Amino acid sequence: MAQQGTLGVAVVGTGRMGADHVRRIHEVTSGARVAAVVDVDAERVEAVARSVGGCAAYTDPAAAMASAEVDAVLVASPGPAHEAALLEAFRRDLPVLCEKPLTPDAASALRVLEAEQRLGHRRVQVGFMRRYDPEFGRLKALLAGGGLGRPLLLHCRHRNASVPSFFTEQMLINDSVVHEMDQTRWLLEQEITSVTVLRPRPSGHAPAGIGDPQLVVFETDGGVLVDVEIFATCGFGYQVQAEAVCERGTARVGDAHGMLVNQAGRWGGEIAQDFTVRFREAYDRQVQAWVDATLRGTVEGPSAWDGYAAAAVCEAGVRAQATGERVAVELVERPALYRP
Ligand code: NAI
Repeated sequence: MAQQGTLGVAVVGTGRMGADHVRRIHEVTSGARVAAVVDVDAERVEAVARSVGGCAAYTDPAAAMASAEVDAVLVASPGPAHEAALLEAFRRDLPVLCEKPLTPDAASALRVLEAEQRLGHRRVQVGFMRRYDPEFGRLKALLAGGGLGRPLLLHCRHRNASVPSFFTEQMLINDSVVHEMDQTRWLLEQEITSVTVLRPRPSGHAPAGIGDPQLVVFETDGGVLVDVEIFATCGFGYQVQAEAVCERGTARVGDAHGMLVNQAGRWGGEIAQDFTVRFREAYDRQVQAWVDATLRGTVEGPSAWDGYAAAAVCEAGVRAQATGERVAVELVERPALYRP
């Protein structure tokens, strides 16, 4: 068990991600403890509270944030509930780690951006956890070092074994490719200026109404072309790969070179079956970085601006998906609070 630290965290939303974050803060993260858990589902939140012990269960996020035990908030409710939770946290000037998406659309993300600017300081870190994955971190450092020359192309693959029954075609963009949107902006330090969605014939395993796979193409303001294969029903596992093609070489991550086994005339390794396994270390590092920065009195990592930019690219992506056209991304001017 982790050492019991000083930062009292309220985890809002105790579903798949929230419950995992509760476990993480309780067992892995140092310098923090789960002070409160919140869910509109009273039975679920009581059960999660019991799994930790010594933390209070709430069905109302505002009530949890009013507790003297709560110093910071981790928002892991569904996207449409994020804006209300963020604005309540701002009202109390509490630091927030907000799971992606910041909010589900650009207009609501802008409202959050404006509210944070009224506070006059950053309060939000957005849960784009790939930035904390060690392999992606190495790729970022390599590109930033300039040894490979300027990046020209980024080839990305994002494959899931299967999707839940409530999955929609728009979720391919808003829930899956949103990670490549942030990854692109972060790795290249460029904004995405347009999105085009191309479709092959659908897989016979794609659920009705979902054209799966799709090829999503971004153009950036630095002239880089990015292609993202999203294949949400590939059947064989969860795979996230990226290859940067630069002027003097290429670099690729995500091949999951763990243990390789030679047996019976074949060689190979395992493929993770879902993101909680593939990105476990990234989630751990993300939450630890948030706690460490919060205890230092700073806010680091992906900002509300990054959350807004991703939401704006998602909107363009969903339109591109529906129309088959190349859709330009419209961003407001980057406010001073979020300039490097
Ligand atoms: P989930 O549906 O498993 O859990 C959501 C929970 O929030 C449920 O228990 C629900 O009862 C509760 N809830 C609903 N409205 C609420 C409200 N107003 N206040 C408090 N609780 C409320 O969803 P899941 O998969 O855990 O997703 C949660 C968030 O995490 C979403 O924003 C999602 O996009 C994000 N996510 C991030 C991933 C990543 O890789 N970073 C991966 C999967 C999800």
